[in-house]
This record gives sequence, structure tokens and C-alpha cells, in this order.
Amino acid sequence: MHVFVSVVDRIREVLAIFPASSKMVNASALLALCASAAPAAGNIMLYQPGVSIAPSPLPPPGPSSHGEEIIRQFVGLSLATEWSLVDKVQFQGETFEPEGMVRLGNDRYFVSAYERPIPALRYNTAPDGADAQGAGFAHMMVFDGKGGQVADATITEEGSSEYHNGGIDYDGTYIWATLGQNRPDSTATLVRMRPDTLRPEPILRIQDHMGAAIHDLSSGNILTLNWGARSASVWNLRYKAEVPPAFTAPRAVIKNPSHYTDYQDCKFLGHSQHYAFRPVMLCSGITRLYGTVIGGVALVDMESMAPLYEVPLTMVSDTGMLVTKNPMDVALVDGKMRLFFLPDERNSTLYVYEPI
Ligand SMILES: *[C@@H]1O[C@H](CO)[C@@H](O)[C@H](O)[C@H]1NC(C)=O
Repeated sequence: MHVFVSVVDRIREVLAIFPASSKMVNASALLALCASAAPAAGNIMLYQPGVSIAPSPLPPPGPSSHGEEIIRQFVGLSLATEWSLVDKVQFQGETFEPEGMVRLGNDRYFVSAYERPIPALRYNTAPDGADAQGAGFAHMMVFDGKGGQVADATITEEGSSEYHNGGIDYDGTYIWATLGQNRPDSTATLVRMRPDTLRPEPILRIQDHMGAAIHDLSSGNILTLNWGARSASVWNLRYKAEVPPAFTAPRAVIKNPSHYTDYQDCKFLGHSQHYAFRPVMLCSGITRLYGTVIGGVALVDMESMAPLYEVPLTMVSDTGMLVTKNPMDVALVDGKMRLFFLPDERNSTLYVYEPI
């Protein structure tokens, strides 16, 4: 059963602005208010009525709460490591093009994705990017631990050119994401959303395509990675941002010195004692090389983008996709590091691995 809540939410919000004594609101005035203020963005399909989207209270972020132990186990990996597929979960429904994933406890997976425009877009034929528009939409989808659909939020408006929702990170309060045009050297908007509402709050606009966001909870730095993760831009909310739609200049741009993996999805792991308390993230992705595709996961220094420890992964999904192609998350489960991947598009299966 599907419940469409945005209009209901809208009516609740509108009612809330009237004093308690005047709850008998003129119906046409109410409709006018709804029509004037209801945006196309923020529409949520709820698939399990009465079931909350996010756990309450919100859990701490899995990767950075166990960052030191995850790093300790990660640096024990090598090309010879054998991986055991400890779980495989079919996610229900259309999953579009999944790009990022965060686990909130054992029973919730939040997946960022974008719905391709129709007709298919062409790259870089119009300098103003007009041809990159179309009917594309950014989505945030929520699944339970068994792969059941909980929610699917459409978080961009019809006609928005920035409909590509990239890699995401969860900091215990917000999910951070970048909504970008679906082409290199374009534009993006850094957003954050509460897991229980999935309403994107625009933070600042960026004059480049951005396809992933990572939040360093200790320094307040937010890293965004551009097309292919060729460079990271650094932002910090303690410094004034320009009011959108004006672009904000990044505090720094860090060129990625590694070309073995185009990182797609990264998770903040903390300031690691193992690396002299430098901020460290775990990233995964693929690269096309010599007519083939390779993929891997890496610990990356968030100050220099230098890989600290990297391992190629050769596992593929049942449809033949390298597991590192799309979303990735990491957790410590019963004391062991687990990697979570969602490589396939449209019809997706979660692959969960532990090193043997
Ligand atoms: C999705 O994939 C699964 C497993 O590969 C398959 O059994 C199922 O029929 C597919 N569903 C659709 C709608 O294609």
C-alpha cells in the first residue's frame, strides 16, 4: 500500500500557523495556501504505513563510531584476502541508479539515487547545460533490513538540472549529499537532510559537478568529490556561505593523487590514532583501465586525498557488476568489519562481505 504524505504534511503545516481558536479554516483559503506553497520536491511514498522512516532515537554513525577498529582490520587486508559473502538481500522495487548508501542500525538502509531523464541526456553539447535537463529526479530511498521498501522520497523538482544524487554520509543527525548536474564540470548543491523527513536543506551551491559528500564531525569540514573524484573541495559551515543560487568558493581544493579508483561513495571513519590522528575516510569505486574495469576500497587521508591503504576487490554481482561500482557502507558487526555493496541498477541486491 502506498501513502502519499506530502499534501497531508502541507495541510498540517498550514493548520499549525493558525491560532488554536481558529482551526475552522476557510477551505478555499487552505487550498490556496497549499497550492501556492506545495513544491514538487519532498514528495514521499511510504510503503509501510505506521512504520517510521528512521529509527528513533537516531543511532550514532556506524563507521566513525567504530573507526579505529575498522581501520585496524582494514590494514590487515591484502590482494590475497578471501572474502566471505555473509548476507545477500534483494531490495524491493525500482532502485533507479543507486549512488550512495548509509546504514542506520541493522534495520535501515538509506540509498541515494537518481532517475535518468527521458530522453537520454547528451553530454556537453550546449554550453549552458540546457540539454542536461529533462525529466531526471533525485531520490532518497529507505529499505528495511530484509530489503522491504520503507520510503521513496523524490527530492528534486521537475525540470531541475541538478538531479544527480551522489555518494552520501551520515553524521548521527543529518545525511549529507550533493545534488549535481549529471555531467562533469557543471554545478551542484550541497544539501543535508534529517533521516526522518528526507527533506533536502540546501547549504550552498558549488561551481563544479559534485558526486559525493563526507562530513568530518570533529573539524566540521565537509568534503565533496567531483566527477570521478579527481579533486575534493573543502567546506565548513563555520564560515559564511553565499546565499543560493550564488556559488560559494571552496575553502580548499585538493587534487586526488591516485588514479586507481574513481571513488563513488565514502564514509567518515574519524581522526585515526593509527594515522597520527589525521581525518580518514573509507572510499570505494571503480576505474576503467586497459579496456577493462577494476574496483577497490581505500582508506583515504581527508586532508591530502592520499590513499593510506588500498585493496582491489574482484567480487561481482550476479549480473556481473563489480561490487564496488555504486553504493558502499562499512560497519563493525559482532567485532568483525563488514562491507556492504549495492552494485546493480534498477533492480538491486545488497551484497555483504567479511574478510575470512
Ligand atoms: C530482480 O532480480 C532478481 C534476482 O536477480 C530476480 O529474481 C527478479 O525477477 C528481478 N526483478 C525484476 C522486476 O526484474
